[in-house]
Amino acid sequence: MSVFKENFLWGGAVAANQCEGAWNEAGKGISASDVCTGGSHKRSKRITRTIEPDTFYPSHEAIDFYHHYKEDIALFAEMGFKVFRFSIAWTRIFPTGMENEPNEAGLEFYDRVIDECLSHNIEPLITISHYEMPFALTEKYNGWSSRECIDLYVRYAKTLFTRYKGKVKYWLTFNEINSGTMPMGNFLSLGILNEGTTEFNNQVDIPQLRFQGLHHQFVASALAVKAGHEIDPDCKIGCMIVQITTYPLTCNPDDILEAQHQNQILNQFCGDVQVRGEYPYFMKRYFKEHNIEVAMEPGDADILKEGCVDYYTFSYYMSNCATTSKNEAQTSGNIMGGAKNPYLEASDWGWQIDPKGLRYTLNELYGRYRIPLMVVENGLGAYDKIEEDGTIQDDYRIDYLRKHIEQMREAVEDGVDLMGYTPWGCIDLVSASTGEMAKRYGFIYVEKYDDGSGDLSRRKKKSFDWYKKVIETNGEVLA
Ligand code: BG6
Repeated sequence: MSVFKENFLWGGAVAANQCEGAWNEAGKGISASDVCTGGSHKRSKRITRTIEPDTFYPSHEAIDFYHHYKEDIALFAEMGFKVFRFSIAWTRIFPTGMENEPNEAGLEFYDRVIDECLSHNIEPLITISHYEMPFALTEKYNGWSSRECIDLYVRYAKTLFTRYKGKVKYWLTFNEINSGTMPMGNFLSLGILNEGTTEFNNQVDIPQLRFQGLHHQFVASALAVKAGHEIDPDCKIGCMIVQITTYPLTCNPDDILEAQHQNQILNQFCGDVQVRGEYPYFMKRYFKEHNIEVAMEPGDADILKEGCVDYYTFSYYMSNCATTSKNEAQTSGNIMGGAKNPYLEASDWGWQIDPKGLRYTLNELYGRYRIPLMVVENGLGAYDKIEEDGTIQDDYRIDYLRKHIEQMREAVEDGVDLMGYTPWGCIDLVSASTGEMAKRYGFIYVEKYDDGSGDLSRRKKKSFDWYKKVIETNGEVLA
């Protein structure tokens, strides 16, 4: 007997800007990701403000899911997916974010994608905003730092709830909303582009704007949750947090307090607002000590209370360590790095691999919130090689995923209410942090390379059949 629920949602996850391509087709506008150049393992990508003629932009073609969606969804169905997490590109629906009427051709594309999923009995799980707000909103308002974005987002979200009512049961309002608590989230998550910023991974940071932007996103998310429930009482709307589980590097009480502080600000703050409907007590002191004054309008507190999410989702790739000592070796990580953990190995990109941290995290989260949880991103970004016989032997990926699923199993045995699991980049796609194709996550290989070359053909990796078996046995057979 499997420990996972009978209707456990096994599947995979992608985001529009990293897979769709077709960046200017059928009336689509320019999104934040469309002005980001390609980067590399060592070189940060750039934000160019305009589309430069001789510059390579990975999102413009990406893996061309826009024209390959049927073939791709059929492969997901072959693996037995119960759910497919994808995002809708805001700029396909409202090209500048400011139109009064939606772009019908954009909605029709997602009609087709959703119907294709449903024809294979795959539940769509849709992220409304995943690192791709209309770039026109950056130019006009400096992104979410302005309150105007709230109404524009809510109009967009209502358009989706109305159009896909009865077809889409699972929604997420913002991808990794808490990345806005970290400098990397300026442009990626908040569409904020401060003077002097061109380097994507090293942006000019004005914390006041970031936290104000986050407040606007909280209000927008809560209004969307409320509207979504009114439009379709059967739908479930969740939050999505980038989980940067942070351990104290040592048992020195200074390190313990430092780790607690980081967990509060980076991980718990946003979850608390979205699940409990109010700012947690510890933010008062943080704001005071960082000279941050978040402007709130009368009524905002009620809106937050009335728009609590139904379930909590998160991405989990790695864990970090915190210390007050200045001399410790550092390592990189998702959105942010930390002190190196001597007990863990890291991926080729320096992200520390920590399956047991997932069990720990699931218990921490369930203990805190007591609502259903879902792991909506997890996976290993790795270099893959096509062998002479055409196969891709990605045993390292199988090993990573297996160990994480084993720990999910432990967490379920511990009593955690876990709804599902959608590993990231179930098909190879463009990396969010570096713009590379070489950093591959998929069960399906796509012939597309960092310089933009490749015929876009798809082929199954060894992990494809492995994951198929995992789903078939509801997580029992992981060998
Ligand atoms: C998450 C994002 O942070 O991590 C995805 O939601 C992203 O968009 C994923 O792709 C993996 O990160 P990266 O930088 O390896 O693509």
